Amino acid sequence: TETKKQRIREILKERDAILMAHYYQREEVQEIADFAGDSLGLATEASKTDAKVIVFAGVHFMAESAYMLSPQKTVLLPAMQAGCPMADMITPAKLLALKDEYPDYTVVCYVNSSAEVKAVADICCTSGNLLKVVESIENNKILMVPDKNLAKFAARHFPEKDIKWYDGFCPTHHRVSAEEIQDAREQHPQAEVIAHPECPPEVLKLADHICSTSGMSPYAQQSSAAEFIIATEAGILYQLRKNNPEKSFYIASKRLVCPNMKMTTLDNIIKCLEHMTNVVTVPEEVRQKAVGAVEKMIAIPR
Ligand code: 13P
Ligand code: SF4
Repeated sequence: TETKKQRIREILKERDAILMAHYYQREEVQEIADFAGDSLGLATEASKTDAKVIVFAGVHFMAESAYMLSPQKTVLLPAMQAGCPMADMITPAKLLALKDEYPDYTVVCYVNSSAEVKAVADICCTSGNLLKVVESIENNKILMVPDKNLAKFAARHFPEKDIKWYDGFCPTHHRVSAEEIQDAREQHPQAEVIAHPECPPEVLKLADHICSTSGMSPYAQQSSAAEFIIATEAGILYQLRKNNPEKSFYIASKRLVCPNMKMTTLDNIIKCLEHMTNVVTVPEEVRQKAVGAVEKMIAIPR
């Protein structure tokens, strides 16, 4: 493993490349990344870096966004088959049909969507800036795609707004149950519960704090609690434990693992860098229509 990590560092240098990793990636991948972050952090960083090549340890829509923001760069996705089942739940045709149904609604599109879907949306959001994005929209009528749990969370936060949603969800977060949270609380009665807004409403109701993956570590740091029950993909435990070594973190459910996020390995990172394969691009016509929604989102301070 150490030899593989060293090899990756070498080729990254040779290729003038940087390795970016989402917080849900395998521990060894996050460990060697130049930048690890949540979807918003990664998109922002991708728009700023001077490197010629971005190796994106994440899922397909993330690599697409990185390419759209910096089309002069080469974006590589080590595991080409790593998609996001939630992103696949909505298609441009489905969104266009919804827009016909709700013609005077502003479309907020979660970044977990294809470039083609973003091309027919007004503005993007991530879990890290959802409330800021919704707040920034003057129109009180908002249609959110594809994640219903995220949309319902925003709707509870802004009862004065008319928020409609599509029926998408993240299979990993959606399967956490209220019962699992209650069981974890019984086992760790002193612990606080931190949940990601992709979890279902009944789970969020039981949480002490709801935030994106990048909000979890700072929250744990400033909290007086010493133990935390975490309701998001288990990869985040690496960052939480690294940044808060004196505190304890327990995953809320053993099922909180996204198989797509785990497809990136040291081996496929080496392979794509050596051969410069798995290049992700977006047709220029789609990019031009979609990038505005991502840029509008990035312009809103976190
Ligand atoms: P963020 O917390 O990074 O927004 O993402 C959640 C997620 O499911 C990414 O696939
Ligand atoms: Fe998609 Fe959920 Fe996996 Fe994130 S964790 S990539 S939203 S399936």
